[in-house]
Amino acid sequence: MHLVKTAAAALGACGLWATTLAATTPVPNAWSTALAKRHQRGRYDDCPEVNRGSFIINQYQLYPENADWDEDACLVYFGSLWNATVAIYDPYIDDFISILEFDNITRTGTEHIGGVAWDRFTGLITILVDSAAPWATAGADVSGTNLILKWDPNTQTTLWTVNLTETTHGKYGAFQDIETDKRGYTYVVGTYPGSILRINANGTEVIPWYGPLQTTNSTIPGLGGLVALGPEGNLLLANDAGNGSIYRLDTRDPLAPRTLTQVPIRPDVRYNDTDAIYAPPLYNGTVLLVSSHASGIQVLVSRDGSWTSAEHLGTIPNPPQGTPADVANATIGSAVTAAVQIGPNAVYIIDDWLADPWVTGQVAGNRTLFPMPDITAQIKTLLRLR
Ligand SMILES: *[C@@H]1O[C@H](CO)[C@@H](O)[C@H](O)[C@H]1NC(C)=O
Ligand SMILES: *[C@@H]1O[C@H](CO)[C@@H](O)[C@H](O)[C@H]1NC(C)=O
Ligand SMILES: *[C@@H]1O[C@H](CO)[C@@H](O)[C@H](O)[C@H]1NC(C)=O
Ligand SMILES: *[C@@H]1O[C@H](CO)[C@@H](O)[C@H](O)[C@H]1NC(C)=O
Ligand SMILES: *[C@@H]1O[C@H](CO)[C@@H](O)[C@H](O)[C@H]1NC(C)=O
Ligand SMILES: *[C@@H]1O[C@H](CO)[C@@H](O)[C@H](O)[C@H]1NC(C)=O
Ligand SMILES: *[C@@H]1O[C@H](CO)[C@@H](O)[C@H](O)[C@H]1NC(C)=O
Ligand SMILES: *[C@@H]1O[C@H](CO)[C@@H](O)[C@H](O)[C@H]1NC(C)=O
Ligand SMILES: *[C@@H]1O[C@H](CO)[C@@H](O)[C@H](O)[C@H]1NC(C)=O
Ligand SMILES: *[C@@H]1O[C@H](CO)[C@@H](O)[C@H](O)[C@H]1NC(C)=O
Repeated sequence: MHLVKTAAAALGACGLWATTLAATTPVPNAWSTALAKRHQRGRYDDCPEVNRGSFIINQYQLYPENADWDEDACLVYFGSLWNATVAIYDPYIDDFISILEFDNITRTGTEHIGGVAWDRFTGLITILVDSAAPWATAGADVSGTNLILKWDPNTQTTLWTVNLTETTHGKYGAFQDIETDKRGYTYVVGTYPGSILRINANGTEVIPWYGPLQTTNSTIPGLGGLVALGPEGNLLLANDAGNGSIYRLDTRDPLAPRTLTQVPIRPDVRYNDTDAIYAPPLYNGTVLLVSSHASGIQVLVSRDGSWTSAEHLGTIPNPPQGTPADVANATIGSAVTAAVQIGPNAVYIIDDWLADPWVTGQVAGNRTLFPMPDITAQIKTLLRLR
């Protein structure tokens, strides 16, 4: 969730939603060749360990909202919120392999890119382009274009694009996160008000799959994040952005879209500012990390991976205890928007800034240093695996 006042003023100034957004294959740029080379190296059997501990990424206007780890290419995909680019980072050489830009999306200010996900079943990347208006107005204005792009990192082409606004008719939105299952479905979660859309494998059908529960008052926050667990990705978990509840459903259940089952949390610790949820692959679906903007990363566990109930083990503050001073200093003023695994065995906090004033003539603040606090040890301690 990326609530921002600076954007509201900027949006009001231009005649905004009239722009046609058709282009969806990234604009070729200086980075494209490097990415092609990386993928030509082929699949790694296993990504090597990263062994960096906490670190700081130096990249102007990265403002990462969410991220995912590509286990094929051993790269991190960041959704760079304000620029609306996809920044592809190699943690082994501490450099960006590519920054994908999209015509009529990148640096428009009216579109964000937050959710970006690697699909473990196909190796494809799903990119969520969402309208800035709901975030600038806390859900009061849910208009604007929301797109899903299915991008093939091997050929560097967009296989298909769908315009979610054609399904929602602009009555609900604030889409934040995406998941995929083995059957090829893509699920997209929306916050104002809560909803889940489902897209078929070739992008020819989008259905309002869950909710919206109401469209009368779009300012009541609904679902914030999604994860799809299990060998076939059928166990879907979602979080309530406004009260931290966790819900579960089986995507094969024919009644699934109608009901979400609440997962009891013991002890019942829930935050009112939750954003993305994430299940680090290294724990095979038994650990759920819930991001809270102000409180940090909540660690929940379901020892058998069924998520019929969840144990709250604790919340890792931002920055975590023991974070090196330079990284800790660089987290000042940030909101915890997500967590991500990097390499086979390390887990990091994603810090973003939601209120930096925009640089004149640009659509993002002037920040260059983006901290990546390592929370691997803290999670292990909470799980008593030491
Ligand atoms: C997406 O759909 C909405 C609603 O039909 C429309 O207003 C908008 O122009 C479309 N955007 C693109 C990029 O096609
Ligand atoms: C971008 O939007 C403009 C103005 O609506 C339109 O003419 C143009 O075709 C779009 N560009 C692409 C690549 O879709
Ligand atoms: C954002 O855009 C600026 C140009 O305005 C560019 O210098 C910067 O590298 C971009 N950063 C990302 C992560 O897209
Ligand atoms: C897309 O998939 C659906 C099944 O979900 C199928 O009926 C349809 O023919 C496919 N369309 C294309 C263009 O492949
Ligand atoms: C919508 O809900 C918000 C609480 O999120 C409340 O403050 C506001 O008064 C409600 N608006 C209407 C029209 O009911
Ligand atoms: C959390 O909020 C949802 C509405 O978004 C509501 O249905 C649910 O009862 C709330 N849960 C608790 C425990 O307050
Ligand atoms: C991971 O969890 C699945 C159940 O979701 C189980 O079938 C599988 O054996 C587990 N794999 C490992 C390596 O523990
Ligand atoms: C969320 O919880 C915090 C800490 O308990 C509290 O200070 C804040 O007012 C709450 N915010 C909302 C919108 O309820
Ligand atoms: C802390 O961060 C600020 C910028 O946010 C920088 O100017 C300052 O030098 C940093 N201090 C240390 C001790 O790293
Ligand atoms: C970045 O922006 C902040 C807030 O507008 C400003 O205080 C700071 O001086 C700027 N830093 C640089 C290096 O321009």
